[in-house]
Amino acid sequence: MATAGKVIKCRAAVAWEPSKPLVMEEIEVAPPQAHEIRIKIVATGVCHTDLYHLFEGKHKDGFPCVLGHEGAGIVESVGSEVTKFNPGDKVIPLFISQCGQCRFCKSPKTNLCEKGWASDRYDVMSESDTRFTCKGKKVLQFMGTSTFSEYTVVNEIAVAKIHPSAPLDKVCLLGCGVATGYGAALNTAKVEPGSTCAVFGLGAVGLAAVMGCKNAGAKRIIAIDINPTKYEKAKIFGATEFVNPKDHNKPISQVLHEMTNGGVDFSLECVGNVAVMRSALESCVKGWGVSVLVGWTDMDDFAARPIQLIAGRTWKGSLFGGFKSKDGVPKLVNEYLEKKVKLDEFVTHNMTLAQVNDAIQLMQTGDCIRSVLSVALQ
Ligand SMILES: NC(=O)c1ccc[n+]([C@@H]2O[C@H](COP(=O)([O-])OP(=O)(O)OC[C@H]3O[C@@H](n4cnc5c(N)ncnc54)[C@H](O)[C@@H]3O)[C@@H](O)[C@H]2O)c1
Ligand SMILES: [Zn+2]
Ligand SMILES: [Zn+2]
Repeated sequence: MATAGKVIKCRAAVAWEPSKPLVMEEIEVAPPQAHEIRIKIVATGVCHTDLYHLFEGKHKDGFPCVLGHEGAGIVESVGSEVTKFNPGDKVIPLFISQCGQCRFCKSPKTNLCEKGWASDRYDVMSESDTRFTCKGKKVLQFMGTSTFSEYTVVNEIAVAKIHPSAPLDKVCLLGCGVATGYGAALNTAKVEPGSTCAVFGLGAVGLAAVMGCKNAGAKRIIAIDINPTKYEKAKIFGATEFVNPKDHNKPISQVLHEMTNGGVDFSLECVGNVAVMRSALESCVKGWGVSVLVGWTDMDDFAARPIQLIAGRTWKGSLFGGFKSKDGVPKLVNEYLEKKVKLDEFVTHNMTLAQVNDAIQLMQTGDCIRSVLSVALQ
């Protein structure tokens, strides 16, 4: 590639400060250093966690940054010591790394990794180091990925090489939302055949959780959202019943207990709201119910009565669906190519990177599932 070893000037949507629209800017992207890969981003989804950082988390040290962490692209060049990637490879950048060496990577019990921003910087949601500059200022790489840019640089421990025939404008969703919800049901909740499940929140993450429950053989999948326009999609992914909390004047957990003779076997919170997390827990049956936190928030404490757990319920959380990222994502891409995992049905809007603020607004108003933005030409 003619650009290898040189600084690339390209277009990116920069979040200069919290709660403000993103600004299309020309940024400079430094060449990859040892063990790093520079990626041309072809397509990216917009996930609620981008909106969380911009409008809710708003940590002052987390800006300026380039958001986006659900992308797919093509390797432009590699730094020294990189042996497993070549220019032209199709890849998905990963917001949690898999170094393969640390005690977490070596344990089959977790998908956490001690390397990268996700080891301890959940407040600012990026590493202090970055390969981006704009107008003479350092610009942070949100979740280590920054897919709202035509080019980005990622350490090889946070890049998955995927099947060469994978359509990047679809498999980008496996970089976050779909892998997250799907894995939360399969890997974290470990949904069982014949079980009754409840999924709270029917964005892409929740719908993917519905798909996971269905693929695990659940008999009843109760889909819960305050926005009834989401039920039609939920049906496509396997939901069998629908509940709108706004239609009831009693706690939603009580509604679910009545519907299920004492509570569901598995519940998944895919909203990011601590009150909903409590409802999801309380909707589970005593004795064996399992409730999984998938929605993202780090701002409020949650509360519940201890008897909920003493009586035998389990409350757990799931990051990236429990998938070890480098191992899991290429497999999920293959499952999509083999038609075991749906992706196309999540995409409600196709736009360009320059329309990113419109895509953000669609998510805020609840008028999309996933908007996929085309970023650089393939
Ligand atoms: N754990 C992880 O690794 C991980 C990864 C990706 C996203 N997330 C989080 O998952 C959550 C969902 O992401 P998304 O992209 O699908 O978001 P989204 O905004 O598309 O979907 C959220 C859905 O929740 C619904 N909702 C809001 N309040 C509700 C309530 N009180 N009861 C029921 N439904 C309600 C909304 O109507 C919407 O349909 C976010 O919190 C996101 O940050 C977590
Ligand atoms: Zn995400
Ligand atoms: Zn590791």
